[in-house]
Amino acid sequence: MRSVEIKPNVHWVGAIDWNIRDFHGYSTYKGTSYNAFMVTDEKTALFDTVKKPFLSDLVHRIRQLVEPTKIDYLVVNHVEMDHSGAIPEIIELIKPEKVFCSEMGKKALLEHYHREDWPFEVVKSGQTLNLGTKTVHFLETRMLHWPDSMFSYIPEDRLLISSDAFGQHWATSERFDDEVDQPELMAHAAKYYANILLLFSPLVQKLLATVQQMNLDIDMIAPDHGLIWRANPGKIIAAYDDWSRQRTARKAVIVYDTMWHSTETMAKTIADGLIDEGIRVKMCNLKVNHRSEVMTEILDAGAVIVGSATINNGILPTVADMLCYLKGLRPVGRLGAAFGSYGWSGEAVKIITQSLEEMKFELPEPGLRVKFVPTHEHLKQCRELGQKIGRALGAKH
Ligand code: FEO
Repeated sequence: MRSVEIKPNVHWVGAIDWNIRDFHGYSTYKGTSYNAFMVTDEKTALFDTVKKPFLSDLVHRIRQLVEPTKIDYLVVNHVEMDHSGAIPEIIELIKPEKVFCSEMGKKALLEHYHREDWPFEVVKSGQTLNLGTKTVHFLETRMLHWPDSMFSYIPEDRLLISSDAFGQHWATSERFDDEVDQPELMAHAAKYYANILLLFSPLVQKLLATVQQMNLDIDMIAPDHGLIWRANPGKIIAAYDDWSRQRTARKAVIVYDTMWHSTETMAKTIADGLIDEGIRVKMCNLKVNHRSEVMTEILDAGAVIVGSATINNGILPTVADMLCYLKGLRPVGRLGAAFGSYGWSGEAVKIITQSLEEMKFELPEPGLRVKFVPTHEHLKQCRELGQKIGRALGAKH
């Protein structure tokens, strides 16, 4: 378990979680990492910790460099337990002079760990901490990801320690962006944005503007998850600018579940209509696609078309789950449509339509219902629905 020097006297001392497969509803099918960083200067500072079960990994990596008791300061950029879980034991071990955090960070730490006796030092945006040859500039980043979140910037190293922002859930033996496959790296970064940060897009836009105004000189971004951006930090900043503007493409996602394949037949035929109009289509049967993979496809999709069979006067549970998840992540500016087959009551299309309307999707066409098994005439209607959505999408792109 080696530590990795990322800048002179700045080391990654975090942990790699190869086994995690679910991160509160997000499918982390390739694991993740909990990145913690240590700056060794006249004063030594540790930036964030790790999830509690990984405490010994963190301590082992610190001990390769210094005795833990030599650490003077703990900086808590974010209180969520994947970064703060090891804090009680770490504070016990290192007995820091000070624990730096935002005002909301102190509140959240007290609400998590109930330790009024910890040596808190609350900092605000613009405050600095002198470590000797290096200084730490704090920048509060409320709601990215939690109210307590903040960045730590070290100008002498042109290093931004960015907490959850710019991360990826991807366990790797490599630590830097240029050491891994680029398309896979960006796919993980996009999935992370779509499933964690999409709802905070207006705040991401504000943050990017603030960073630009501050004229921060950055040549490395070290997030709390995944790979460190050293080769081209501008690439992930540009991607965040794009994603947070919710820019979409001539792409439609058809997301559905089916009982006896009638709704699936409708889905395939709607896809044919979209393809007729030159639209790229992703078919996501919820029996075989995890909600977080579907959400990643929706990140750049201009249209989201949702189908369900009617069951028990409602929609299939997988579709209900997907709509609930989608609503929470607040995609904006999408076209939508609803479809599905039914036997006698047929409420599914109405329920889906209401849900899409609540999300302020633009619905150019009414939903399409088919009783039991579609006829050729029904399939003609499905294809026409796809073509109409395709033309509406084409008009916007
Ligand atoms: Fe990686 Fe919001 O915690």
